[in-house]
Amino acid sequence: MQGLTASCKIVLVMFLLGLGLAGATADSRRRHISSSPDEPCKKMTLYLHDILYNGVNNTANATAAPVTKPTDLSTTHWSNGTFFGMLVVFDDPVTEGTALPVGDEEPAARAQGFYFYDKKESYSGWFSFSLVFNSKACRGTLNLMGADPMDAETRDFSVVGGTGDLFMARGVATIRTDATEGLFYFRLKMDIKLYECYV
Ligand SMILES: *[C@@H]1O[C@H](CO)[C@@H](O)[C@H](O)[C@H]1NC(C)=O
Ligand SMILES: *[C@@H]1O[C@H](CO)[C@@H](O)[C@H](O)[C@H]1NC(C)=O
Ligand SMILES: *[C@@H]1O[C@H](CO)[C@@H](O)[C@H](O)[C@H]1NC(C)=O
Repeated sequence: MQGLTASCKIVLVMFLLGLGLAGATADSRRRHISSSPDEPCKKMTLYLHDILYNGVNNTANATAAPVTKPTDLSTTHWSNGTFFGMLVVFDDPVTEGTALPVGDEEPAARAQGFYFYDKKESYSGWFSFSLVFNSKACRGTLNLMGADPMDAETRDFSVVGGTGDLFMARGVATIRTDATEGLFYFRLKMDIKLYECYV
């Protein structure tokens, strides 16, 4: 959790300038906007593990499940169906390293939301989810959304907002497929750079 501890809670030493207006309970965080894409105000790298329900024997392990069937458009008319129209809901563990949490080890965060497949000719998805941080080191959310054309080596999701320790954060998450196991597991590497932070 060390990296995250450092990255989630950036605390600037603020000098309260008298006047008695800023008491001990006042929130002294101020908005910081980066002046260049090379200088995010906060960076973190996290791994999202999606373990899809295989319909057979991974009920306990699965963290994602299709909630709709793909449409006939992709499955009947194409021999190589691309799941067009299928919606998957997930509550995925998110870690700082590549390994899945072992036993009752707490993940750094959970990714809660959905993706759906949105192209009949090739694998392409669209994601919308919250990264939910709920540890002593970091409490709050980052909310991400964006297109996932899976053939591209990297894709960018927008970080559209944040709450808690990540109050009002905005930025870009660059996504890379880091590992796959057949059809039922993938790991995404997320390089998250925030360009607007309250610290
Ligand atoms: C679960 O089922 C899959 C395919 O149906 C099989 O390859 C795998 O070995 C099974 N795993 C367990 C733990 O039984
Ligand atoms: C599926 O098949 C169609 C028609 O043969 C082809 O145009 C398309 O590229 C294929 N898609 C994938 C993901 O292989
Ligand atoms: C859970 O799923 C992951 C990803 O497929 C796999 O590596 C792991 O062995 C599974 N664990 C159990 C207990 O089946």
